[in-house]
Amino acid sequence: MLDTELAIGEVSERSGLAVSAIRFYEDRGLITSDRTAGGQRRFRRDVLRRLAFIQAAQRVGLTLDDIGAAMAGLPADSGPTGPQWKELSAAWRPMLDERIALLEALRDQLDHCIGCGCLSLERCRLNNPGDRAAGLGAGPRYLLGDHPPA
Ligand code: FES
Repeated sequence: MLDTELAIGEVSERSGLAVSAIRFYEDRGLITSDRTAGGQRRFRRDVLRRLAFIQAAQRVGLTLDDIGAAMAGLPADSGPTGPQWKELSAAWRPMLDERIALLEALRDQLDHCIGCGCLSLERCRLNNPGDRAAGLGAGPRYLLGDHPPA
């Protein structure tokens, strides 16, 4: 039977995070632990899911403030339920969909003109003559979803 409470070393081993990172997330209020009579931290197993969520969110460029705001809706003193994670996921879906779309555009369009105004590619002459994309707004307009004028 797996332990329901883990020491910080066990959390570090299973999550792949350094002990210092786990302490940092605890200091930021993203995770919580209890203390033994000797003052040692003991984490409930659900901390592994919270840490996995934090890691994944950071990998897609979300800040600890974003992550903290999202996790603020989760109970601090018990493991979040499936419906509670579902609620968090639903709240983040539009933002994640937008990031996915941007990542896909970056993956698929980087060898094309992205409408940034550089006019440095052969294709820019065709897709962004005279930097027409500037009329659509600032930034890489085609990467952000605008389309080259027909
Ligand atoms: S890639 Fe920059 S304007 Fe075409």
